[in-house]
Amino acid sequence: MPILETVGPELNRSAPRPAAPSRSAQRKFATLPAPALEWNERIERETAPLYARIKNVVPPNEWPFFAPYVAAINTIKKQRNAVILAHNYQTPEIYHCVADFVGDSLQLAREATKVNADVIVQAGVHFMAETAKILNPGKTVLIPDSRAGCSLATSITGEDVRLLRERFPGVPVVTYVNTSAEVKAESDICCTSSNALQVVESLGADKVIFIPDQYLAKYVASQTKVKIIAWKGSCEVHERFTGDELALIRSNDPTIQIIAHPECPPDVIAAADFTGSTAHMIDFVRTKKPKRVVLVTECSMADNVQAELPDVEFVRPCNLCPHMKRITLPKILDSLLHMKEEVVVDPAIAAKARRAVERMIYLKS
Ligand code: 13P
Ligand code: SF4
Repeated sequence: MPILETVGPELNRSAPRPAAPSRSAQRKFATLPAPALEWNERIERETAPLYARIKNVVPPNEWPFFAPYVAAINTIKKQRNAVILAHNYQTPEIYHCVADFVGDSLQLAREATKVNADVIVQAGVHFMAETAKILNPGKTVLIPDSRAGCSLATSITGEDVRLLRERFPGVPVVTYVNTSAEVKAESDICCTSSNALQVVESLGADKVIFIPDQYLAKYVASQTKVKIIAWKGSCEVHERFTGDELALIRSNDPTIQIIAHPECPPDVIAAADFTGSTAHMIDFVRTKKPKRVVLVTECSMADNVQAELPDVEFVRPCNLCPHMKRITLPKILDSLLHMKEEVVVDPAIAAKARRAVERMIYLKS
């Protein structure tokens, strides 16, 4: 079913900014002394099993820079009773060497409901850290760099959602998790790229407002009879891929497997052999083990899967997410030492947003 209508923000509307980080965690927890961060025999020995996980993708001359940070983070994490949740787009030294849980947005949100630790460090972007906070109002949630945003999250405000509801009265609002807490709070239910179709169809409505990713909306619309009103947001990383570049890759090797994220434009999805969330893309490669594959998504994910599957050849059109790449080992260490930057969500907004996120998490499949 084609999209019913795509609406977008008024021109000259100012983009929302995340709330300023709070200093309350810095007051509550003492700063820890900075570790020495030396590369020596002890660090080399202790971190050898971790380096073994990424040796296919991180050259040996780079490990002496990463290893002291990896060792320090893993020690301080225990002292703080902290866990690190890392998205699939984090670089291999974070994803394979310091993360406690890795996954796509849905897996990270589910993991956030089970956390026993006092502190959650989100190695990902701001909306992911906010989701963790919404689900854990009593815990301290830190993001190593609060400037790690998302072009989808900044494309829409809570006020925009209220205006959409006025324009389309009675039509339920399905909101992609790549949004601020304020936008989630105005929504009926959230979705991620791994459950968007299921969420849309779960409402039993003949029409839904689906925000803010126009391409994910188109992808869902192509698979359902539910009429979809979309928003003009897009991911600045996935919208850069083109069907033409994939056609060229395919013409050079007709046997190559092309796997795309549903945030890509329709001509890219049409050129792909499989489309799915980052976790579904990883599962596809793990189970099918293609000889050559293109992951049409953020570039670091190929490194993370390559580390695990050295026999698969990854062909890369390499688009990096500048927001995800703000998260680095030195910033994670700094975050744990100084308990910054703490993610704060207004409790009234968090309570409303939690309803929309939990409604998705506990949806019966
Ligand atoms: P996933 O939920 O598929 O991991 O997607 C999150 C994201 O930001 C993709 O750009
Ligand atoms: Fe947002 Fe795109 Fe970056 Fe994902 S890859 S966090 S959707 S800007």
